[in-house]
Amino acid sequence: MRRPVLAANWKMHMTAGETVALAKKILPCQERAGEADIVICPPFTSLAPACSVFQGTGLQVGAQNMHWEDSGAFTGEISAPMLKEIGCTHVIIGHSERRQLFGETDAAINCKLKAALRHGLIPIFCLGETLEQREAGTTQEVCAHQLEQGLAGIQSGDLAKTIIAYEPVWAIGTGRTASPEDAQAVISFIRRELGKKHSHFADQVRILYGGSVKPENIDGLMAQQDIDGALVGGASLDADSFSKIVNYGGAEQ
Ligand code: PGA
Repeated sequence: MRRPVLAANWKMHMTAGETVALAKKILPCQERAGEADIVICPPFTSLAPACSVFQGTGLQVGAQNMHWEDSGAFTGEISAPMLKEIGCTHVIIGHSERRQLFGETDAAINCKLKAALRHGLIPIFCLGETLEQREAGTTQEVCAHQLEQGLAGIQSGDLAKTIIAYEPVWAIGTGRTASPEDAQAVISFIRRELGKKHSHFADQVRILYGGSVKPENIDGLMAQQDIDGALVGGASLDADSFSKIVNYGGAEQ
């Protein structure tokens, strides 16, 4: 049985003050923390305030990016030890916005994944195809490539700790969700690909869906065999809708 993961990607929203207010509103989500990993990923300047509101609640905090070196002359960057020290447990790596808007390469993503694992941060490794790639029928090829490059040199034991998020780029922030069946098809493909190199571990890896997840579509997604959770952008900025997503499946809302 894989433990579900509900992760919130706040992107570049929420000042430190706004973070404290929203974090307090989602505190009741801690009731679900016994059954699922609930991870909130605010911007860097909001990480420490979020960690202090969530301390001792079972709600966890993740960053949205990091550098692979521990320290050095890398102006504007943040390292894994810095995130660990303030209480982060997770870090999103390779989000499509980082790939597309900031030129992040598969090689950089691979370095970041290794650095996160080396420091005991759980990476949420994002991958997914663009609309053009889907329409060209290359979804599987693209996902297999991103998976192979991103995970190059990562051992099975570390892979088992890694969370993967399948986020089709055409579904992010567009209101256009992949159908549960389409998401399941790609996610089960990803699991089969993992199984080629890591046969005993592929069944342990949590694979999330991300892209316009809302209270209205979470149940259908979570009902799929290989979908272990969600990475939620827009809908995670509203306490009510994020709480409904966390309490999917008719749990107390
Ligand atoms: P969205 O974003 O839920 O707003 O589509 C998801 C993500 O980018 O992680």
